[in-house]
Amino acid sequence: MTHRFQAVKGTRDILPPESALWNRVEQTARRVFATYNFQEIRLPLFEETELFARSVGADTDIVSKEMYSFEDRDARSLSLRPEATASVVRAYIQHGLHTRPGLTKLYYIGPMFRRERPQKGRYRQFYQVGAEVLGSSDHPALDAEVIEMLLVFLDRCGLREHTLYVNSIGCSDCRPKYVERLRSELQKVKDHLGADSRRRIETNPLRVLDSKLPEEQPIIEKLPSILDHLCDACRDHFQKFQQELKDRSLAYEINKRLVRGLDYYIRTTFEVTAPGLGAQNAICGGGRYDGLVELLGGPPTKGMGFALGTDRLLLALRQVEESGGKDQLDVFMVWLGASALRAARMLARRLREQGISTELLYEETKLKKALGLADKSSARYAVLIGEDELAQNKFTLRDMRSGQQRALSESELLQELAASAGASAAEE
Ligand code: HAM
Repeated sequence: MTHRFQAVKGTRDILPPESALWNRVEQTARRVFATYNFQEIRLPLFEETELFARSVGADTDIVSKEMYSFEDRDARSLSLRPEATASVVRAYIQHGLHTRPGLTKLYYIGPMFRRERPQKGRYRQFYQVGAEVLGSSDHPALDAEVIEMLLVFLDRCGLREHTLYVNSIGCSDCRPKYVERLRSELQKVKDHLGADSRRRIETNPLRVLDSKLPEEQPIIEKLPSILDHLCDACRDHFQKFQQELKDRSLAYEINKRLVRGLDYYIRTTFEVTAPGLGAQNAICGGGRYDGLVELLGGPPTKGMGFALGTDRLLLALRQVEESGGKDQLDVFMVWLGASALRAARMLARRLREQGISTELLYEETKLKKALGLADKSSARYAVLIGEDELAQNKFTLRDMRSGQQRALSESELLQELAASAGASAAEE
């Protein structure tokens, strides 16, 4: 028997009608981000492994366990990107984007790869919509504005229920002292911790705060908080950041355990969660990463951004119901007779040129059956072309909802359909 190929574990096909929803979400991101003066960057899907090791951190789960790495024919180690912030920073340095005036505001849309255990909302190939601001400003207003853009985008997508969690994880002045304090407190309780957390006491004690193990929660709750160990500059930044959120009427909660799983963060970190997603309820994560550009060999630069998991956003939107998700077909064209076919072909082409989606039957079909097919296609209109129409140089436009028919000239028809297609685009 021949082998039946299946998509590899943790990857999946996005089929219609769901693909229409994906397009809509991505289009919404493009529209909203453009209003905040962000521009798109398209990045390679793989990079030198060392880029991720240095920026995300060699001891993080992402780099140490989850990357798809391979040796190229010239013996260089390459990796499929597990995230894109590192690539954006690499591109920023490589193309000297810091020499351009003002802040560099970029967004990206595309697949990322992490070899995690697949479950609901967690895939090995997943998709992100991300945005990054690079440049000279670490003003807290910038952090708040980036978050405002994210929340406007979520609102535009129709996601009403979500929670924004914020935290500050300090800087290279105050964090090392806190980490030492945390490590010594963890040593005292290590016999009550699981194997992962015990290992992290040495490698990355902050990540213990991230633990989801129920039996560790009472212990973690009692550990010292980073917020009590911030230096004056970081405390001031965090306070101003919160004020900026309030000034924009953006609701938030402080989560002192929000440390994030990537090493490049400094000061502001944040996540947005949505209900109904189970364990993988973070639809978006981000924060400030001043210093990452320098770490990768560029000039002193501030950075701030986020990435949203599109797979999870769409699960949260739960809109994949048949009608809601499907791109509506504008016109189903019904023709009777060879000369009507010629006219139908020409008209279909002109409608499509105007952006009006059109389905045209290839074979002649009886009127009743053709109208049945039009009905099943959920088209908004049918256009009928037969001998009468040809004789009068008109087309019959049938409203598939009301069943009403009108005879229209080609220009009237185009006008009518363009107005209707424009109205449904505006509804989105
Ligand atoms: P991250 O928290 O690792 O951050 O990922 C961001 C989002 O990607 C998560 O909140 C989640 O929605 C989604 N995500 C992550 N892993 C998976 C997976 N295996 N399956 C499905 N969705 C997933 C970053 O990637 C940072 N680069 C964000 C950032 C940008 N920080 C600053 N700028």
